[in-house]
Amino acid sequence: MDGNGRWAQRRGLPRTAGHTAGEENLAAVVRASVARNIDYLTVFGFSTENWIRPRGEVRHILGLHKKLFGRITELNELNVKVQWVGRPFDDPTARTPRYVQRAIRKAISDTAGNTGMTMTVAFDYGSRTEIAHAARRLISARQEPSVLNMSNQMYLSDMPEVDVLVRTSGETRISNFLLWQAVGAPSYFTDNTWPEFSAEDLDLALQLAQQFKTHETAYLAPRPN
Ligand code: FPP
Repeated sequence: MDGNGRWAQRRGLPRTAGHTAGEENLAAVVRASVARNIDYLTVFGFSTENWIRPRGEVRHILGLHKKLFGRITELNELNVKVQWVGRPFDDPTARTPRYVQRAIRKAISDTAGNTGMTMTVAFDYGSRTEIAHAARRLISARQEPSVLNMSNQMYLSDMPEVDVLVRTSGETRISNFLLWQAVGAPSYFTDNTWPEFSAEDLDLALQLAQQFKTHETAYLAPRPN
């Protein structure tokens, strides 16, 4: 969800106002995704690298996560199940503060009975950290380092692989997000910043996913185990 800062700066507002607009747009994108029968929406809320941002900005973003995870009534009305992905809370390197942990746990348990879309928020998440964590778990379980065994050790191993990656605000790179899970997935890049990301953008991303699904079934070999 890139470009919150730029969205705000272009309007002469503080960066934090861009993050607030970003959280509000996420709620709108969740509604649009539910209306389109999307099964899984995973968003990059805060990375393992984002902790180096100015303290006030970090505090503001943490507050927005608390707000998002607190939208239980709305999420239940939409039949959305909440998930979280990131460094496990008991990991010595994990940095999620306790009040955000509590909000995450409550959102997960209060929406656990929902059967519609799964919205996963990546918080204190980094793909390289996840892959290294999976490798350590394989070593301690004395398992063969196969692709299938590695996949089974990812933080949320039940989650299906990525159909389409989206990156906003004119950045045409992937960064440290779901690198293991997104092999072969097309990327939808838009110049719109995250607060501007619209239902039309979502439809274009879905079209791309659809084209690639057809392409993959027709031309590509199945994923090796
Ligand atoms: C990138 O914009 C966004 C973030 C670092 C994460 C924060 C995202 C939100 C607050 C959106 C709401 C989402 C949740 C899950 C609460 P940037 O600061 O990198 O923008 P810039 O590239 O223009 O500086």
